[in-house]
Parts: sequence; structure tokens; C-alpha cells
Amino acid sequence: MTDIRILVGSVYGSALMTAKAIKAALDADGHSVTVLENPTLDDITSNSAPLLVCTSTTGQGEIPGNLLPFYLALREQLPQQPGRPFGVIVLGDSSYGETFCGAGKLMEEALYETAARKVGETLCIDALETQEPENEALPWVRKWISAM
Ligand SMILES: Cc1cc2nc3c(=O)[nH]c(=O)nc-3n(C[C@H](O)[C@H](O)[C@H](O)COP(=O)(O)O)c2cc1C
Repeated sequence: MTDIRILVGSVYGSALMTAKAIKAALDADGHSVTVLENPTLDDITSNSAPLLVCTSTTGQGEIPGNLLPFYLALREQLPQQPGRPFGVIVLGDSSYGETFCGAGKLMEEALYETAARKVGETLCIDALETQEPENEALPWVRKWISAM
């Protein structure tokens, strides 16, 4: 059984719905998942649980407003998390071109700066390709857990 903390960034609710679907599935598998809709640094520094970023992309490759304070605090304070496992699921839309899934790259860079350890490849879910992001996220997250 694994304790997992999901850092959610969502404007219109798709990434949040995806995070909730992940929690439902993994809790049923016997894991313990916390969905953080307005995460603070305390939510991660008070424990050593693996972190799963589940965010959409807004603006021009930017991080949604509910996750932005966490991102900025992380960049500014860089609380060191050596070897802490993390994974990234990012929702985007390939019609945005160069900024496609940009929020995931920003979160990844910030977590790397804390010396956290990425597990698995980033899962980038394209809104042009699927209306049901959880269908891609659930198989990915099960592999992510086994890879840890
Ligand atoms: C105003 C706006 C800006 C967006 N900017 C980007 C972007 O720069 N890159 C990208 O990949 N997707 C972008 N998207 C697409 C969203 O990330 C995508 O629709 C996602 O599924 C929304 O998830 P959410 O409901 O959790 O916010 C944008 C969408 C909107 C409405």
C-alpha cells in the first residue's frame, strides 16, 4: 500500500475530475490517496509520500490559478526533497502548439530543483484526442505505482 499526494491544477475541472477518478481507483486497490485542490508547501513538507502532479495547462503554457501559489512558493523556497518520487500527468490541447502541456514541464522543472526523483515518463493528455482523460490516466498511474 502506498500513500500518494496528488497536486491538482485545474481551471474548468477536467484535471480535478481526473485526480478524483485516480483516487477512487487507487483507494479501491488499497492505497491511500489525498487530492490537494489548493496545495501548500506544508502539504508536502510534512510527509514524504510520493507526489503526483495532475494539472491542466492554461494561458500560454501556464499553471492554473489554484496550483500557481504552490508552484511559486516551491520555486522560491526550494524545500529539498532528495530522491522523493514524483510523477506528472498534464492535460493540454495540441492546437496550442509550442505551449502544449507546458504546465507539466514547469512543475517538473520546479520539482527537479528540489532534488525530487521523477518516476516514469510524463503523461500528456490531449483534449483534441480524448474527452475522457481518466481513461488514459488510470492505466498510466497503475504502471507508475509499480515503477516505484
Ligand atoms: C484559456 C485557455 C488556455 C489554454 N492554454 C493551453 C496551453 O497553452 N497549452 C495547452 O496544452 N493547453 C491549453 N489549454 C487547454 C487545456 O489545458 C485543456 O482544455 C484541459 O483539458 C483543461 O483542463 P481543466 O478543465 O482541468 O482546466 C487552454 C485552455 C483554455 C480554455
